[in-house]
Amino acid sequence: MDWGPLIDAAVTVRNNAYAPFSGFKVGAAVRTRAGLIFSGCNIENRSFGATICAERFAVGSAISSGETSIEGVVVVTDTSPPSPPCGLCLQVLAEFGEAHLPVLLINLEGERLESSLGDLLPRPFQLPDPS
Ligand code: THU
Repeated sequence: MDWGPLIDAAVTVRNNAYAPFSGFKVGAAVRTRAGLIFSGCNIENRSFGATICAERFAVGSAISSGETSIEGVVVVTDTSPPSPPCGLCLQVLAEFGEAHLPVLLINLEGERLESSLGDLLPRPFQLPDPS
């Protein structure tokens, strides 16, 4: 996996995070099967439940461009160790990525944790077969 362009996109978009309530800025970038990169930052709201996470923003941007297969994810935070996506975002990633989807967690100091979606969310919710 060539992480460089995804890291650049995630670090850059993190600068635009709108996080006046938590002060916790997140940047995320995804690579699609076509090799395109989409990024997103967290956008908080004073009605806290209206907050959107960086990862779901990045996934939504890919989907709205017609890209429905995700093959790489980078998340950048300013924590040590680097923070993983929340459970909600992992479930959304599981909609568009396989268990082996590589996920790279980084922080601003260059600390890196590479894992996979399946490691972070071993048993995603599945709908029962309707038949
Ligand atoms: N946040 C994300 O952007 N991604 C996650 O996976 C977890 C949390 C954001 C939401 C909120 O703006 C801030 O981090 C603190 O929860």
